[in-house]
Amino acid sequence: MNLPQIREAAREPMKKYCKLCPVCDGRACAGQVPGMGGALSGSSFQANHKALADTRLNLRVIHEAAAPSTALSLFGKTLQTPILAAPMTGAGYNCGDGMTEAEFVTALVQGAEAAGSLGWIGDAADMALFEGGLAGARASKEGVVAIIKPRNDLGEITARFQRAQEAGAIALGIDLDGAGLVTMALQGQPVGPKSLDQLAAIRSRTSLPFVVKGIMTPDEALLCLAAGADCIVVSNHGGRVLDGCPGVAEVLPWIADALGGQVPILADGCVRSGVDALKLLGLGAQGVLVGRPLCWGAFGAGAQGVAATLQTYTQQLYQAMIMTGCASLGEISRNIIF
Ligand SMILES: Cc1cc2nc3c(=O)[nH]c(=O)nc-3n(C[C@H](O)[C@H](O)[C@H](O)COP(=O)(O)O)c2cc1C
Repeated sequence: MNLPQIREAAREPMKKYCKLCPVCDGRACAGQVPGMGGALSGSSFQANHKALADTRLNLRVIHEAAAPSTALSLFGKTLQTPILAAPMTGAGYNCGDGMTEAEFVTALVQGAEAAGSLGWIGDAADMALFEGGLAGARASKEGVVAIIKPRNDLGEITARFQRAQEAGAIALGIDLDGAGLVTMALQGQPVGPKSLDQLAAIRSRTSLPFVVKGIMTPDEALLCLAAGADCIVVSNHGGRVLDGCPGVAEVLPWIADALGGQVPILADGCVRSGVDALKLLGLGAQGVLVGRPLCWGAFGAGAQGVAATLQTYTQQLYQAMIMTGCASLGEISRNIIF
């Protein structure tokens, strides 16, 4: 199945949750969280889209980058692509009841693996959803990255780190931008922002590479480094946690300059093609995560739909690397941005 066919197949099972708009820019689904939208007016989701659309590339064709490599070394693995599967939890209340949580996350993880990529799993108040994510992790051969909510209970974070590692996680982290999720507190699982000491304490609970997801300013990126983070994900959670944020492509260069290459930076938000991925790589990321299009992939065609989406984006990235003169990911720089 090609991507238009996969999207068409996802339309019926996702019909109450996603309009599968020709351009996925967060307008039609504004405020639909839970669901597929962004918070309140949807402006943060829309800003992710606009910032990428406004970023343009320098076409260059006098060079030797005729057969680029898209390989990425991350967390001790060599991946065939820097386009990774974002952690997504809550298939039922966000996308529809057509898949169980375990089926959904397994499709994400196995599809990512089939594309030479890496699957990520998330966390939620409902233990059954975390268990669904763990089932997905166990279904992986290469391992996953597990992202735990910024729970107030350090013991609970530690326990989930352990469960995820037993299930095959190769890196662990927290989505710190989930700090304001009142729904977690309402279900007796309070979360909140962390002090530098608290972040360092969380970091100390694992010897695996530690990822902080949901950083949007250089000062906080530097605090993550001070706490011992091995990787930062520049992200506003797909616009789902705070209305009125800038787009990820706007803040990424600022954060990349502050970190100066000390740890890998990943970024996400409205990556809808390999060209979008190249734009974020040009602005300072080493890899990108894809969210919503992989929901269409999973609901449209299971693991094959997820794999086809990531493979298509990787092929587009490959072609765009030829057209911007980048023989490897290491050669991508701000020089490709107009
Ligand atoms: C349905 C859905 C569920 C999500 N669940 C989680 C989660 O459990 N943990 C997390 O860190 N991020 C979660 N996210 C955010 C994604 O990991 C990612 O940051 C975001 O979707 C990227 O933007 P995009 O969907 O526009 O590509 C979720 C996003 C969506 C759309």
